[in-house]
Amino acid sequence: MNTSLRPAVIAGNWKMNNTPSQAQALITQMLPLVKDASCQVVIGVPFVNLPLACQMCKGTNVKVAAQNCHWEEKGAFTGEISPQMLTELGVEYVILGHSERRTYFGETDESLNKRVLAALNAGLKVILCVGESLQQREANVTNEFVCMQVKLDLQNVSEEMLKNVIIAYEPIWAIGTGKTATAQQAQEVCKTIRACIASLYGKQAADGMTIQYGGSMNAGNAAELLSQEDIDGGLIGGASLKAPDFATIVAAAK
Ligand code: 13P
Repeated sequence: MNTSLRPAVIAGNWKMNNTPSQAQALITQMLPLVKDASCQVVIGVPFVNLPLACQMCKGTNVKVAAQNCHWEEKGAFTGEISPQMLTELGVEYVILGHSERRTYFGETDESLNKRVLAALNAGLKVILCVGESLQQREANVTNEFVCMQVKLDLQNVSEEMLKNVIIAYEPIWAIGTGKTATAQQAQEVCKTIRACIASLYGKQAADGMTIQYGGSMNAGNAAELLSQEDIDGGLIGGASLKAPDFATIVAAAK
């Protein structure tokens, strides 16, 4: 982390976990534990929990994220949620391009780019997820692959709009597997992403960009990962479902 250049952001991605009553219990337990955070804290909750989460986090230091959004404002898109529906609730962030969306729901870089543009135009902050598979890592194409994702997903995003983008580097092989990238592996790719941003937008934009690591980040390994120069926060899955663990990770980001 280098908080003199860019804000540190710890975001929980709850994925498809917690009914509204469970969400209420978890947020109630979490809020006091993270209230003195020196980083930005975000929780990404299922759509049905957004109204409750926004209400409970209003006036606190915790911001609320959705886990996806569509690119159109409204229309015949059964089952989809528009950026405008989110902003009206008070949602400030949206996680886009998670590998689970890409793998299980067929999201492509092309449709993701449309979502990114629509979300930014609606005033949301975007947490854009990129990351390689194990096969890609073993074939030594991690850096090229991740840069390609960044370039495709950010097409037509202006330098001004980029200020509302966070990139989350999430190696697919480390998600939910308990297999964390080493701090050196994670640092190397986050540094590569920053260089890619510099090539597209210049050094100042790259220096100012928050880049998170995600993939089995937990209370035990967060401090070491966050001590790396180019890792400015985390996108936390499993460990964000336990308030004390999440709070420990938040406390490590200082
Ligand atoms: P885990 O922390 O459960 O590995 O999940 C990481 C992730 O996918 C966050 O978006």
